[in-house]
Amino acid sequence: MRNGNPQQLVMLAREAARASYSPYSLFPVGAALLCPDGTVITGTNVENRSYGLSCCAERSAVFAAVSQGRKEFAAIAVSCPKSEAPVPPCGACRQVLGEFCAPAMPVYFAGRSEGFVTSSVGELLPRDSLHDLKRG
Ligand code: THU
Repeated sequence: MRNGNPQQLVMLAREAARASYSPYSLFPVGAALLCPDGTVITGTNVENRSYGLSCCAERSAVFAAVSQGRKEFAAIAVSCPKSEAPVPPCGACRQVLGEFCAPAMPVYFAGRSEGFVTSSVGELLPRDSLHDLKRG
C-alpha cells in the first residue's frame, strides 16, 4: 500500500482482527501499521488466561514491525469490529506508539461500522515525557 489511503488501512486492521486470540474478553482488535515505503505490518490482540499478560493489537503490530527491522512509521489504523463506537488505543499503546512515532503521525480508529475517527499520536499522548532517556 503506497498511497497511505486511510480507509484501506482501516480495512487491513479489520482483517487483522480476524486472527485475534481473545477468548476472555471476546473483543477482537486489529491494527495495521503503515511504513514509509508502503509496507503494512499488522497485529492483533493476544490474550492469556493470566489476564495481565494480554497484549493489545497496536503493541503486537509495533513489536512485530520492530522485530522485522522497522522503526519508522507513517500511520496506524485500529479496528474493533465488535464495538459500536470507534475505540482509540489504550494508554499503554499510546506510550509505545510515542516511542517510535512522530506526534503528527495519524492514528485512525474504527468500531464496527465503516466510519473512523482520525487523531494523531500527539493528540492521544499530549505532554509526552522522558524524551531525555531515549537512546537511538
Ligand atoms: N485492546 C486492544 O487490543 N487495543 C485497544 O486499543 C483496546 C483494547 C484489547 C485488549 C484486550 O484483549 C481486549 O481488547 C479487551 O480489552
